[in-house]
Amino acid sequence: MNCRVCHSPDLHRYLDLGKTPLANALLSDPNQKESFFPLEVLVCPNCFLSQLSIVVDPKIMFSHYAYRSSISKTFQAHCREMARACKHWGVAASGALVVDIASNDGCLLRSFQQEGFQRVMGVEPAVNIASIAMQAGIPTVNKFWGIESVQEILNREGPASLVTATNVFAHVDDIGAFVDGVELLLEEDGIFVLEVPYAFDLISHQEWDTIYHEHLSYFLLKPLVQHFEIHRLNVFHVERVPIHGGSLRLYVQKSSSRKREVQISVKNILETEAKSGLYDLATYNGFAQKVLETRKALRHFFEETALAGKKVVGFGATAKGNTLLNYCGIGPEQISFIVDDTPEKQNLFTPGVHIPIRSAQGLQEIPFDYLFLLAWNFKEEIMDKTRWFKQRGGSYLIPIPEVRVI
Ligand code: TYD
Ligand code: ZN
Repeated sequence: MNCRVCHSPDLHRYLDLGKTPLANALLSDPNQKESFFPLEVLVCPNCFLSQLSIVVDPKIMFSHYAYRSSISKTFQAHCREMARACKHWGVAASGALVVDIASNDGCLLRSFQQEGFQRVMGVEPAVNIASIAMQAGIPTVNKFWGIESVQEILNREGPASLVTATNVFAHVDDIGAFVDGVELLLEEDGIFVLEVPYAFDLISHQEWDTIYHEHLSYFLLKPLVQHFEIHRLNVFHVERVPIHGGSLRLYVQKSSSRKREVQISVKNILETEAKSGLYDLATYNGFAQKVLETRKALRHFFEETALAGKKVVGFGATAKGNTLLNYCGIGPEQISFIVDDTPEKQNLFTPGVHIPIRSAQGLQEIPFDYLFLLAWNFKEEIMDKTRWFKQRGGSYLIPIPEVRVI
């Protein structure tokens, strides 16, 4: 009803992707009963936070989770770079406690360990994923982030010098309570490093398939700065990083500390947002129009492919792929199967349209004509590992920013 950041009541609905199943709710049996939820995006004309019209209970979405951070080499390299960047901003490796929120299988904290940080602690609600991290030597609190997990860490380890949260903030409904917990856990001069998929990239590169029920908010810098100020926190530096189709990395300190000077990067990025039409409702309507055009182009591609008797295989049983497949009505008749290296996803079926998921083993022996990059955000890595496919004359189908065959 009201904006998650500024509580404004007049939200503008610009995108309706219909009713879709939860994007990570893979099925072990295609006849299993599924729930469908409306997938609509609204933008706040006051602070320009884009947000979904509904919130699905996080316990349904995150208590058992198939996503594993460490599967991608690109993400591992990203984690290492992030650990180094934190050192640069004055968090000394020796003695510092690093806490990672939604630590998944411990990929980021392992990078901190490799950079010499000995005291690390993860917080991860998914039982299956938290236990993988613990077995790999990453101490992990198996809880949702909140006052309880903060108290547990304070009791066990004391305050944190550094709190990190990559690709989780957009999943949170009560972002006020979330950052209050960070403020409570941080030392006076500690820093909070946050990464969120950047709505600037979402809108300007038409990354509409990254919209699904787990992602409640689509952030620009403007609403984030406003939000942190309300919660006694200060954004002192911001960077654009390429991960997940383009993310924003924010460096935040306590307003009471202000140990670090606010960098020009904050002003620069706010100006770029303003100049790029992101504080203008017409931009959002134009984005939605192009989404319709992409659906039309994809349907056309699959009609032609069927007529020509060509075969398509998908790469990456991604959440974003499931938005795309459901919205466009693409199922097993169009895509025989999807390959994915995540063991937890293999031998399951995608939600809604029920495409089988397999391991990539043996793919080279199977004849097919197109590889559909549902994980287009890892395009280079995937094309590199499937060079044999290009060499035998195959083509890649890339859906974002517009439909392309290369
Ligand atoms: P990602 O694009 O991060 O996902 P989402 O849309 O779900 O947030 O997920 C990438 C998916 O692609 C993940 O299921 C792992 C898979 N993958 C492979 O199987 N092999 C690879 O080499 C790469 C890069 C990704
Ligand atoms: Zn608002």
